[in-house]
Amino acid sequence: MCGIVGYIGDEQAAPILIKGLEKLKYRGYDSAGVCTNDGEKFIVEKEKGKIEVLQKYTDDGKNIAGNAGIGHTRWATHGEPSKINAHPHLSQSESFAVVHNGIIENYMELKQELSEKGIVFCSSTDTEVIAQLLEYYDNGDLLDTVTKIMPLMKGSYALGIMYKEKPDEIIAVRKGSPLIIGIGENENYLASDVPAILDKTRKIYRLDNEEIAVIKRDSITVYDAEKNVVEKPVETIEWSMDAAEKDGYEHFMLKEIMEQPKAVHNTIAERIRDGRIVLDEIKLTPEQIRNFDKINIVACGSAYHVGVVAKYIFEKLLRKPVEVDVASEFKYRDPIINEKTLTIVISQSGETADTKEAMQEAQKKGSYAVAIVNVVGSAIAVGADDVIYTLAGPEIAVATTKAYSAQLAVIYMMAIYFGDILGKISEQDYKNYVSELLALPEKIQLILDKTEDIKNTASKLFARKDVFFIGRNIDYALSLEGSLKLKEISYIHSEAYAAGELKHGTISLIEDGTLVIALSTYDDLGEKLQSNIKEVQSRGAYVLGIGCEGRESLKKCTKSVIFIPKTCDIMLPSLAVVPMQILAYYMARFKGCEIDTPRNLAKSVTVE
Ligand code: AGP
Repeated sequence: MCGIVGYIGDEQAAPILIKGLEKLKYRGYDSAGVCTNDGEKFIVEKEKGKIEVLQKYTDDGKNIAGNAGIGHTRWATHGEPSKINAHPHLSQSESFAVVHNGIIENYMELKQELSEKGIVFCSSTDTEVIAQLLEYYDNGDLLDTVTKIMPLMKGSYALGIMYKEKPDEIIAVRKGSPLIIGIGENENYLASDVPAILDKTRKIYRLDNEEIAVIKRDSITVYDAEKNVVEKPVETIEWSMDAAEKDGYEHFMLKEIMEQPKAVHNTIAERIRDGRIVLDEIKLTPEQIRNFDKINIVACGSAYHVGVVAKYIFEKLLRKPVEVDVASEFKYRDPIINEKTLTIVISQSGETADTKEAMQEAQKKGSYAVAIVNVVGSAIAVGADDVIYTLAGPEIAVATTKAYSAQLAVIYMMAIYFGDILGKISEQDYKNYVSELLALPEKIQLILDKTEDIKNTASKLFARKDVFFIGRNIDYALSLEGSLKLKEISYIHSEAYAAGELKHGTISLIEDGTLVIALSTYDDLGEKLQSNIKEVQSRGAYVLGIGCEGRESLKKCTKSVIFIPKTCDIMLPSLAVVPMQILAYYMARFKGCEIDTPRNLAKSVTVE
């Protein structure tokens, strides 16, 4: 999720662009850049690092001429954070400059085709492909050229484009990623998000998908993909700056919960081609995969919980032993691993000290480490032997949600990919898994559409003092995450427990009114779970069930049930986690907790 800003008017553009980029810092950035047109040429300044680096290098943009320009803060998805990968990107002859927010899912094929036509690329980004496409298809009519390349690009894009021959206009194009046009007095603006221009204007056009805007200092014309002029309503932004940064949501956490369909879609889309899982970003060979006799997974917190879910999935599909460790324990137990062990390292930030050191311990013992990371170029990503990036976008709330879901999606793809190589998955099962994977974003959305109901349930439960999450098999693995989500943002004590284990001691804590959240999505053990529910109910527990649609029997043995759509067993956690995230969020909100920055916690724990 990157930040885009554009300006055209009578003032010097660069200082306005850089000020706007600074307002988009919550969108995450590992590099930033601006491009202006001084009437004869493009002036491009871009730097790796936070916006302060660019501010310092360009004296807040004062030493960059030109009254028209585009700017960008990057959240790397393709190509590590660097000056060369920073936007804006220029075409080969420097006639086009582009800033981009989104993912071009077929950029490798397009890059290959253009390279075969002699075009030389200088970055490893998907965005540079757009600049080169514009130049390759340039017929002198910028609008026509843009409409020509749009159908070639699969995926999502919000673009700011400048054409050297037309210094008095900026082109904006939207497909999937948000883009707004700010309406000024004899000057106009472009932005990926409202905060970038709120101090300049509150009047905007909001581009819809497949719309193109030609922005001049004294006019804005919007077209559809067939180049028909589109009349757009003027929208007046009433939000405060704070509300605008959260896209109108009260907290980043809720915004990120709602972004999960897109986070999962972006993570899987370019890795499923013609019905096959394609993990060509890893060097791991089928030979190596066949040679591993064990998998060990190391991580912390929610990432560790993904590892526990992964254990059930890998052992079920691959029939190989899987050990999962909290990283801080793994490092000091002198683990029995070697070059025949595959180590999977999971981390949203890629900077968690415990996880990084556990990975190094595993590598020291000869194990091959594959990292699943959300931050491109982070320490764990760089130190691992292979890395598969979750494409969840920057996650601001301390309590992870969309990154957790994106990590699960990578685990499913790895399990299917490895299972196929090991000959453990039939063609039919492969097809079913891929079809269920592709349906996940939509099914997650169906649960998000029930947020009001879950909020209502939370309004009845937020005063509880102790909460137990119970489940069996993959539901137990998931209950760990439900419990942590509740604890870390509502400060309500809770425990996750294997439902069959309760009777061996902890059930003594169950008394009248104790809240028990019973995860019963895994059908094979549904009956057994229901007898566990009866055990706690007979001791006075208030049981909230989470189960798959159609399991009506769950209604009979619980106080209330949240139903989720059906999917294959291994992907149930991606759906069942959503009600628990929403429940935790609203219980914390009804309690008046801070939510985005809970007490005692940090987003990335970079110390042991
Ligand atoms: C999860 O909501 C917490 N913020 C925390 O447990 C987190 O998952 C853990 O610190 C690991 O962080 P990482 O994924 O960045 O390595």
